[in-house]
Amino acid sequence: MVYRVGLLGLGTVGTGVVQMLQQPQHPLLQAVEIAAVGVRSLDKPRQVRIPPERLTTNLEQIVSDPEIDAVIELMGGLEPARSLILKAIDHGKPVITANKAVIARHGEEIFQAAAQAGVAVLLEAAVGGGIPIVQALQHSLRASRIQAVWGIVNGTTNFILSQMAQQGSSFAEALAQAQARGYAEADPSADVEGWDAADKIAILAGLAFGVAVPREAIPCEGIRNISSTDIRYAREWGYTFKLLAIAQRAAAQGSETVLDVRVHPTLLPVTHPLANVHGVDNAVWVQGDPLGQVVLAGPGAGQGPTASAVVGDLLTLRAHLQTGAYLPNPLWGFFGRAAALLPLAELESEFYVRVLAQDQPGVMGAIGTCFGRHRVSLESITQKECHQEQAEIVILTHTVREADCRQALAEIQQLPQVAAIPSLFRVLR
Ligand code: HSE
Repeated sequence: MVYRVGLLGLGTVGTGVVQMLQQPQHPLLQAVEIAAVGVRSLDKPRQVRIPPERLTTNLEQIVSDPEIDAVIELMGGLEPARSLILKAIDHGKPVITANKAVIARHGEEIFQAAAQAGVAVLLEAAVGGGIPIVQALQHSLRASRIQAVWGIVNGTTNFILSQMAQQGSSFAEALAQAQARGYAEADPSADVEGWDAADKIAILAGLAFGVAVPREAIPCEGIRNISSTDIRYAREWGYTFKLLAIAQRAAAQGSETVLDVRVHPTLLPVTHPLANVHGVDNAVWVQGDPLGQVVLAGPGAGQGPTASAVVGDLLTLRAHLQTGAYLPNPLWGFFGRAAALLPLAELESEFYVRVLAQDQPGVMGAIGTCFGRHRVSLESITQKECHQEQAEIVILTHTVREADCRQALAEIQQLPQVAAIPSLFRVLR
């Protein structure tokens, strides 16, 4: 029997999905027909051939058409994507989406509606492009008690940091290269400020820990402040910079699980599996009990990998229809169970700090005293280069409370010999 899908959006990924469905690799995809494609403009030249009567600007009609069996949403953005997804669900249609922003912010509403309607919402392409991390966390890894999920889930920033590390480029130069190659958008904020990664870790944390993670509550810091100087010093100590999206169990307080979820540039030992993921690739490191450590890595974006994840979801839908088996929603069962998030001030971490100070006797001592007063133990304090009588002092702390470290730095900033504290980054091992 023909399975009729409606596609919302015919951009890069939508085009890739059409190409894959026009040459199906699996017998279950042979009966899939692209019945309607919703686009913004009918006149735009297309790389794939769609019969003109199947192209429409009326997206509402696609999601309510009784002839359409499933909807694939590839528009991105919050609205009208959210409303169209809800409407498709309301009409009893399963939905496949690559839209991390809408799932991270409106997942609860969408999955609640899907639960009531008894339809599936699949989102493999929303995180990690071609890496099958959603299905893995939903099924294969979930029998273990997951302790931590750390991810490089934004290819643009990983490309920029790789260029800075490998070519010695500045942030601005590396960003310009990312834009020239089409990785970064003209307004690169969503990538470089870490917002895209925060959307993705909200979803991964939900899958790994079975609770809803409020997207707005995730502390998020981007990569604009990383300088090539910091990258060089970090390397001398055996570390590399990565924009990490982190979700891990912080502590059990009574019956409540407290999660430590955050996105920020991180110094990782060069021996860590995530340290060797370069360029636009993504990777997710999962640690669980009795699972141990698993790393999934590969292309995190782009037409082919993302389309492959979307069509993989379509295959899952078809396979379940074939057997009549129950298809659980990935985020099913979250409702009413919002995670408590550890405040960043309570975080215990090692820190890398770079201070610019006058090159005078007693400066290192004064800085060390301020740290000591706030219970910040130091692993190393080193004077690096000196320019125009200004010394660069680089500090690595032991594991300390973030609030203590910041209070010490506020005091250090007030020292008459200190000109600036340009860098403060967290270190993970
Ligand atoms: N802009 C994202 C990235 C791709 O750079 O990884 C889509 O999620």
